[in-house]
Amino acid sequence: MRVIVCENYEEMSEQAAKLVSSQLILKPESVLGLATGSTPIGLYQRLIENNKKGEIDFSQVTTFNLDEYYPIKRTNDQSYYYFMNEQLFSKVNINPENTYIPNGETKTPNDECANYEKLIKMHGGVDLQILGIGQNGHIGFNEPDANLNSKTHLTNLTENTIEANSRFFTSDEEVPRQALTMGISTILKSKKIILLASGANKSRVVSALLNDAINTSVPATMLKVHPDVVLICDKDAYTGVRLGVDIGGTEVKFAVVEGGKILYRSQFETEKDSADRFVEQIAEECNKIRKEYPIKTIGIGTPGTIKNGLVSASNLPFKSYPLGKRLKDYIDMPINIDNDANCAALGESEFGAGEKYENIIMVTLGTGVGGGIIIDNKICHGKYSMGEVGHIIIEAKNGLPCPCGQTGCWEQYASVTAFIRQAKTAALENTDSALYRIYKENGEKLNGKLIFAALDEGCPVAQKVFDEYIDWLVVGIKSLINIFGPDAIIIAGGITKQGERLVAPIRERVNNSDVAIEVSELQNDAGALGAAML
Ligand code: GLP
Repeated sequence: MRVIVCENYEEMSEQAAKLVSSQLILKPESVLGLATGSTPIGLYQRLIENNKKGEIDFSQVTTFNLDEYYPIKRTNDQSYYYFMNEQLFSKVNINPENTYIPNGETKTPNDECANYEKLIKMHGGVDLQILGIGQNGHIGFNEPDANLNSKTHLTNLTENTIEANSRFFTSDEEVPRQALTMGISTILKSKKIILLASGANKSRVVSALLNDAINTSVPATMLKVHPDVVLICDKDAYTGVRLGVDIGGTEVKFAVVEGGKILYRSQFETEKDSADRFVEQIAEECNKIRKEYPIKTIGIGTPGTIKNGLVSASNLPFKSYPLGKRLKDYIDMPINIDNDANCAALGESEFGAGEKYENIIMVTLGTGVGGGIIIDNKICHGKYSMGEVGHIIIEAKNGLPCPCGQTGCWEQYASVTAFIRQAKTAALENTDSALYRIYKENGEKLNGKLIFAALDEGCPVAQKVFDEYIDWLVVGIKSLINIFGPDAIIIAGGITKQGERLVAPIRERVNNSDVAIEVSELQNDAGALGAAML
């Protein structure tokens, strides 16, 4: 099975339309097998456009639909007969006499099915079959069952399908309980098959289709025996259920992620003394979660650098530690490891404020300044590490010393720690200011929020501190923009709770309309979400 993973529904529909159009150009008298459901609508819209532009011609095309509810009147707007006319047939130059759909009004369903098989045969079989996929793995209406029917037949719908279809009917009682559908072998006899899947609600079944052996509980797995099947799906359908682990200095967070949604989360305190014990605890939690969820991959975000698979992080027990290798001793499945700030940037780029951009730099303001660089929707990696934006040197002479060994690093000026230090110095130099009073009241507890409280009081000293802090931030951000040319800079960290109050002056001073400056949407979840997507 060939798999094409598209960015979104539009791209999926476009890809499918290209393949169907090519088929019609190469063989104008093609027999198409068609599907209903919401998934192929985008494909049909594009075929209508291509037909209008004269690029494809339906005048000699014959179509056979996969299925129809039973019983149902053709005039019922939920019948597939009605659907096909609305979505395609009435809008292209097809001869209605060449469009076949099992008759949901028939009094003799078995004869109708046998006749349908004959008709397909008479037309030389289906050249190209379009398929959607049900959430339970059905194709057409071939529901999971120990005994799958090979030919066109009358079938009972499962509760799962009846529930999925109920969204289209006004009441539950109206949802048909039966259907007429091509059988598995009818479908497999098609010369080519395009299977479409879109959206996170299909990710479980797509994962089962790709990873499970052929079985009758997921009828779509039967397609694996066909030599010419293309699965075209979007990212949300492809991602499957993944586990993201975000290792932090104080706690480790676990998130089970499906199509950008967190299905389950847990966390425990970081073990500071023994790397081996820490790994055992992480592995234990991962394996516990795997018993509950069909996890496809595990991604781990860790602070520090990763050199040749060896992790070194200053506030963790990892000193040139083979983290991936050790985890593999306990967990037998693919594990991907990357730096935690890179993971956060990836998470934000996939599911957060960065979703609409291809190139972003995530800057996290906290104890230090963290960063992750995403170019063309991928984490930018150097030989060992990359994205250590907090350590770009912005003061060449007399720069403040940084624990990394350099002097003048950006994080010594632009972190929240630096902001507080700058505020304390200014307070002590201006003992008649509101900032000084707040500092005296709170002492070492002075934090970003309290500095903003002084600003609220209209304190000019606090205002000056804030303005200078923004200047420091802007110096680094401008450099990053010059080097990487991103679509957006996404700022994260507790201080971004201030929202536009923080971001608007940055935007104003960066003064570059080509680059968006935005606040992270995912904040503390970005790391685990990104790790899951590694
Ligand atoms: C119905 C159809 C299937 C279709 C499925 C998925 O059950 N009989 O052919 O693949 O719905 O529908 P949707 O594309 O709306 O998810």
